[in-house]
Amino acid sequence: MKEKILVTGGTGYIGSHTVIELQNAGYDVVIIDNLSNSNADVIDNIEQVTGIRPAFEKLDCLDYEGMDALFTKYKGIKAVIHFAASKAVGESVQKPLLYYRNNIGSLVNLLELMPKHGVEGIVFSSSCTVYGQPDELPVTEKAPIKKAESPYGNTKQINEQIIRDTVTSGAPINAILLRYFNPIGAHPSALVGELPNGVPQNLIPFLTQTAIGIREKLSVFGNDYNTPDGSCIRDYIYVVDLAKAHVVAINRILEKKQKAQVEVFNIGTGRGLSVLELIHIFETATGVKLNYQIAGRRAGDIEQVWANPELANKELGWKAETSMEDTLRSAWNWQLKLRERGIQ
Ligand code: UD1
Repeated sequence: MKEKILVTGGTGYIGSHTVIELQNAGYDVVIIDNLSNSNADVIDNIEQVTGIRPAFEKLDCLDYEGMDALFTKYKGIKAVIHFAASKAVGESVQKPLLYYRNNIGSLVNLLELMPKHGVEGIVFSSSCTVYGQPDELPVTEKAPIKKAESPYGNTKQINEQIIRDTVTSGAPINAILLRYFNPIGAHPSALVGELPNGVPQNLIPFLTQTAIGIREKLSVFGNDYNTPDGSCIRDYIYVVDLAKAHVVAINRILEKKQKAQVEVFNIGTGRGLSVLELIHIFETATGVKLNYQIAGRRAGDIEQVWANPELANKELGWKAETSMEDTLRSAWNWQLKLRERGIQ
């Protein structure tokens, strides 16, 4: 068994896929989650996939004493992957203080406790949202950080800065910030995937729920953007490929291969797809016809963004490998499985 890794938010969407890949790579995983946006059943499903039950504690990262006790209980944690955060852009506009408290307080607690317990590494879930609408595409890590469009986006920018400031102050911490583009899809087993609460805000869960008949129609938010077909462009990345990026980031920290104490990588495919293109690939890949309509623009949406992932390709030796057809089929299979299980 390799080193012990703490995964905060490990029962969530990206967290659960990452736990599977960490276990597949031989790591000993401890999960904490406050279950505010996920379910403890995920632990059973992870075990079903990997054959190994990860340690799990229901714990909020804002609970400093609880976190302190956790590091003592699971002595020898070498690194943390910090997913736990609130992530709904719209909600963050309505409840900014909830977002600032949760997303910033959690990281501060972790960074304070890591040196005390000899935890040397952190991989942080950042987002392409830090770039806003980039001046040049594809966007590289050198692109300027634009003023955040939402409190959620601001927490990602502030958290990146908190990590840099902490390291600059001399804290014995090595960090990798992964800026995710748009993660989609589900594990090929269809045992783990994205389970949104209520009406999904993100494109793919809304799309698959429409395809299966839970929603009547998918609204395409805008067809008058300055893009070839008028709909917004994003870099959609398969969640399992994204999960694997975390494993290589952890390896890099533990093997002391970093070129700086804080490194930043774009995690995307390098390919931009419009909403309409994505819908058509979904229809072709699954043979399911989708009911959609063109609707008005959604406030706060960025017109187009996709990654230049060359730095991650070269430095991490990581590349997004899965085709969009397979990715969308996995999302569809997950939706079918949810129905079979009577969940959605
Ligand atoms: C946003 C955030 C991202 C965050 C993610 C998680 C920004 C720029 N991006 O991604 O940082 O991690 O949410 O919540 O803040 N769309 C439709 N119809 C729908 C839903 C979406 O047409 O019903 C379109 C959107 O206009 C967009 C694309 O689909 O062009 C993707 O939307 P979504 O899945 O919500 O992700 P982002 O807004 O890109």
